[in-house]
Amino acid sequence: MSFRDATRGASEPTPAGPARGLRGAARVGAVALVGVLTLAASGCSVKGADNVNVIVGKQMFVAKCGSCHVLTRAGTKGIVGPNLDEAFRASIAEGLQRSSVRGTVEAQIKIPNPEGAMPKELVKGATARDVAAYVAQVVDAPGQDSGLLASAVEAPGAGKPAVEQGGKLQIPASPSGQLAYVATKAIAKPGPVAIEMPNTSGVSHNIAVETGENGANPKGTVLAASPFTTNGTAAVKVTLKPGTYTFFCQAPGHRAAGMYGTLIVK
Ligand code: HEC
Repeated sequence: MSFRDATRGASEPTPAGPARGLRGAARVGAVALVGVLTLAASGCSVKGADNVNVIVGKQMFVAKCGSCHVLTRAGTKGIVGPNLDEAFRASIAEGLQRSSVRGTVEAQIKIPNPEGAMPKELVKGATARDVAAYVAQVVDAPGQDSGLLASAVEAPGAGKPAVEQGGKLQIPASPSGQLAYVATKAIAKPGPVAIEMPNTSGVSHNIAVETGENGANPKGTVLAASPFTTNGTAAVKVTLKPGTYTFFCQAPGHRAAGMYGTLIVK
């Protein structure tokens, strides 16, 4: 499976043909199932009539889905799969109910296209229902999440600057699965430095260093790049002269989505 294949869905938000029909059938099943569960749960719910928790839904969406999908309200910017706001825009404009969107998303989580890049059952059971409910509520919706939903996920890159200590500079990847490091600034002394990127997110990242302060745009010379890791610490050694550098992730789309920062050596 090439990266091109994986991204093809992005330009085809409304695929036609037999695959669509199959997915449609799965969707009807999921909608019916949600109805039954709603009835069964209504007697003992502490989370509202349909027993879903959209706060958990948002957190799990960011953690498990956001690295591959744009969903504006969730602040996610992944490009491996289709942009979800765009994918549902036409149907919602044509009157598709959000309850049906929820069924579609739940069905997609259970039964993604077997030829696509989306792993099945990334979230299960009640958590899958929470994720589907959150996506259905916010997909292609104007404005911003408010109240508890607004603070459900920490803003990416909001941490304090990373500072070199004893020749080591630690810049963790966002533990919540966002395409970001916890800090957007780092400071080191000239000379050799071991750059370490702890990553507990389950999303594959690395850390590379480039000359100049270039933000999202690859412009400078890449001086060093760590291996990739989904769970663990990736490290790379580099010797730096005084100046300004960019650290960034080399996974496709991650830098463009905001996974970079400025390293000052002085
Ligand atoms: C590894 C990347 C990846 C992850 C992680 C991922 N997806 Fe996907 N997703 C894709 C790709 C690629 C497609 C298009 C192919 C397909 O339909 O399976 C897709 C399709 C979809 C669609 C259908 C969109 C349409 O055009 O009809 C929905 C809805 C969706 N994903 C939701 C989710 C949710 C919810 C999660 C998290 C539980 C998730 N995805 C996690 C890659 C991913």
